[in-house]
Amino acid sequence: MGFRKDFLWGGATAANQCEGGYNEGGRGLANVDLMPLGEDRYLVGTGKKKMYDFDDQHFYPALTAVDFYHHYKEDIALFGEMGFKTLRLSIAWTRIFPLGDEQKPNEEGLQYYEDIFRECHKHGIEPLVTINHFDTPMHLVKKFGGWRNRKMIDEYVKLCQTLFHRYKGLVKYWITFNEINMILHFPFVSSGLCFEEGENEIQTMITAVHHQLVASAMATKLAHEIDSCNQIGCMVAAGSYYPETCKPEDYWKAICDNREVYMFTDVQARGYYHSYALKWIEERNATIPFVEGDKELLKENTVDFVSFSYYSSRVSSSDVSKGQQSESNMFASAKNPYLQISQWGWAIDPLGFRSTINELYDRYQKPLFVVENGLGAVDIVEEDGTIHDDYRIDYLRAHIQAMKDAVDKDGVDIIGYTTWGCIDLISNGTGEVKKRYGFIYVDRDNLGNGTYQRMKKDSFYWYKKVIESNGENLL
Ligand code: BG6
Repeated sequence: MGFRKDFLWGGATAANQCEGGYNEGGRGLANVDLMPLGEDRYLVGTGKKKMYDFDDQHFYPALTAVDFYHHYKEDIALFGEMGFKTLRLSIAWTRIFPLGDEQKPNEEGLQYYEDIFRECHKHGIEPLVTINHFDTPMHLVKKFGGWRNRKMIDEYVKLCQTLFHRYKGLVKYWITFNEINMILHFPFVSSGLCFEEGENEIQTMITAVHHQLVASAMATKLAHEIDSCNQIGCMVAAGSYYPETCKPEDYWKAICDNREVYMFTDVQARGYYHSYALKWIEERNATIPFVEGDKELLKENTVDFVSFSYYSSRVSSSDVSKGQQSESNMFASAKNPYLQISQWGWAIDPLGFRSTINELYDRYQKPLFVVENGLGAVDIVEEDGTIHDDYRIDYLRAHIQAMKDAVDKDGVDIIGYTTWGCIDLISNGTGEVKKRYGFIYVDRDNLGNGTYQRMKKDSFYWYKKVIESNGENLL
């Protein structure tokens, strides 16, 4: 048994967290550029504090990120050396349409990604492209208020059309939106939403996510029409909720919390809002802004595969004061006394990974693609330049073993596995670089100081062996 022969091993990044070069190549400004380091980051990300322009009091880590913009050849060569079969990356919308509402795309931006995809293929790497990983052009945030406005659909579809035509034959795997459920946790980052006082925030988020779901279905339709080889996926921030105890109220809370995770993915994978979702929305005095044709479109254009991120399981308690959402953890969770936690407080739970995989497969019966998994940790560079990240190897080994069990013992169909931040990058939650995920170390600190030199960690050599053996050698 084991993993399928064409299993797509690799790593994952996102434009705003690794590219930098924010004002190069004709690129326009995006919401994610304005996410500062420090305590205001959480307020801005949750739409509670408006930051539509840079100021002198804040540092903005995405502006240079880890400078993948200038280092991509070197970085892709390193991924190739590890034997990557795939690289997940995202398109910065504002490199293609700097304002978002232009009629003609920016050729320099299009050429930049074409060069990247060609470079990938040179190394035998199949690109896996997230069309929208948390970025909305600032011009559209100001003009439309982000995804709350239905006109965003047209702008997004125009972007998709441009990408599908230009990269036909170069890209086959596409993800329409990163972590569609993140809108409920980090709405400015996820959808360019800032709230006014007294606004029914749930209504605004439901309106925005409905627009994204319609846009995602339109993109799926278009992708299939333009090239029948295209494979389209949805993406959810997964991680099953356990009840804190066997008290029926805790179990019920876990059911409700899990439903909140899958509520929008249900639409992308099954083609309709589930009855519990309709009730959830109604109970919050909100409505779905359907227009004629939406229901049919959603029904007829479900995704080909379901992709997801998994870092940790979560715990539901009927005592809602236990475990609030915070900047280092977007998902409220009570503590799990049976599990160790990472330096950022995320519970480490490989069996929870197997459970989550099974839950998703039971629910959707579509091929799964694990597109984010990994351990954020502080790394130490020794005097001789080596980096002994055995804690990361331990985490990944246990999770790959759990995924293998899901394939071998549970019969789940998994297409591939990309570890998050295969090269160190900016943390989405905290904006730090010292929360490192990579096999490749980047010499840059939280404030942007450093040489940006790339260095191989011990995990680099370990993952290379994992890939070479198609997941058989995890030692
Ligand atoms: C996912 C996102 O939520 O988790 C990534 O898709 C993010 O963009 C990753 O970086 C890890 O979270 P963090 O906060 O450690 O960067």
